[in-house]
Amino acid sequence: MTVPLTPDPLTTDARTTDPRTTEPRTTDPRTTRDDALTTPEDLPLVPTDLLPDDLRPGDLLEVEIGAVAHGGHCVARYQGRVIFVRLGLPGELVRVRITEARKGSFCRADVIEVLRADPERVQAPCVHFFPGGCGGCDFQHASGALQRSMKAAVVSEQLQRLAGLDIPVTVQELPGGGFGWRTRVRWALDPEGRIGPRAVRSHRVEGVNPSQPCLIAAPGINELAATADVPSGVRRPASAGTSHRQQSRQLRGRTGRPELPEVVLTAAGDGQRLAIWPDQPGAHAVPTVIEHAVGQDFSVAADGFWQVHPAAADTLAGAVSEALQGLELVGSSSWDLYGGVGLFAEVLAEVVGETGSVVTVEGDRVASGLAVTNLAHRPQVSVVLGSVEKVIDDLPDTVDVVVLDPPRAGAGPALCAQIAARAPALIVYVACDPAALGRDTAALMAAGYRLETLRAFDCFPQTHHIECVARFRPA
Ligand SMILES: C[S@@+](CC[C@H](N)C(=O)[O-])C[C@H]1O[C@@H](n2cnc3c(N)ncnc32)[C@H](O)[C@@H]1O
Repeated sequence: MTVPLTPDPLTTDARTTDPRTTEPRTTDPRTTRDDALTTPEDLPLVPTDLLPDDLRPGDLLEVEIGAVAHGGHCVARYQGRVIFVRLGLPGELVRVRITEARKGSFCRADVIEVLRADPERVQAPCVHFFPGGCGGCDFQHASGALQRSMKAAVVSEQLQRLAGLDIPVTVQELPGGGFGWRTRVRWALDPEGRIGPRAVRSHRVEGVNPSQPCLIAAPGINELAATADVPSGVRRPASAGTSHRQQSRQLRGRTGRPELPEVVLTAAGDGQRLAIWPDQPGAHAVPTVIEHAVGQDFSVAADGFWQVHPAAADTLAGAVSEALQGLELVGSSSWDLYGGVGLFAEVLAEVVGETGSVVTVEGDRVASGLAVTNLAHRPQVSVVLGSVEKVIDDLPDTVDVVVLDPPRAGAGPALCAQIAARAPALIVYVACDPAALGRDTAALMAAGYRLETLRAFDCFPQTHHIECVARFRPA
């Protein structure tokens, strides 16, 4: 039995019709693919004589999919050559199309037909989820349970490979279901005026609107994308009618890559629905919204950092609070590094009490200012504006507890060593990237700490992203 991918990019219906609206999808980029075929049976036969070094974009292969890897893909091998395959599941036999072939290195490919499916494969419900489609979701073709077990495997593998640890990992589901959870998105505006996420490994915009919605977006976000006015100051990308030279000049920034204006769309906990254009020139105050967590309100910039899943802030704060248990911390000194608007500083303030102290460090001026307001009722908290790497030298020589929640790149070995040198009794590391967690775990272990507990949460269903909370104690 063969299972075509759904929405099937290779059938007439899926190429021309939105499965949920029956509207013709005349602007669907899939209709213009030169390799568009009518049924899976029309697929060209897979040649068996391709040498691995000869693989080129567009080549078709049959492969058996191996383990899931970090980044939203699985690993397959073709005569020894590694292929990172999107839209497949471990153990499946699939037909793939090569999308990228680096000379002397790995290839990338998309599954275009499933010849032997995993029983946990499901029909992806989103019209934007197809080979070469939206880059926002990676796992819509897997059941929620399988998504979580794949993410657990990735966290385990990263800790094994980067820190030498064998730790069983379970990924916990958040309440609310797998769709409609993303309360903040940063999407691009394309020359045709469409707003949406970028296609996978591409600058093409998957335009979304209420009839062809992004299904992980929270209620209101798709409507905002369809109706947001582009402020006059925002430099619109050149339209299709403009000369190629003009388009290149307008769209290519210093990096040489196309630069499209971006918009942050927010569906805030207080009910506000806002579109913020960070590229808008001139001074303009970004509005704030109110988010609620740990029993209190937090002011957050509408385009600033806040956990995007409605249940994530409380879930992670609960996990941090749990990781702080077991030691007598009342009266202790603590740091909240990469503190944002003060979520974990609030948790620490509760734990150390008024006789303790919390220093929260945040590099973003607006977030830091809002942290001052949000934590004004906690006299034991001081807010420091600055980059953690720079201000750490100015912090006290010893500290009892450190919570850190770095961005995706992680804290890095130098900062981990600097934290360990202050000999805290407890380090709680909140990680949004398992590879960074693996590297920083290795650095903390080298500096005399051991990973004591690890919890993992599916804060980003349908994507490969995951949040972990790790507790470290002196070895
Ligand atoms: C993952 S967010 C965590 C925010 C906060 N802990 C929360 O849960 O809401 C990371 C934060 O670190 C800040 N940041 C990034 N790099 C930084 C640096 N080098 N020094 C200080 N803050 C930084 C970002 O502005 C962002 O607010």
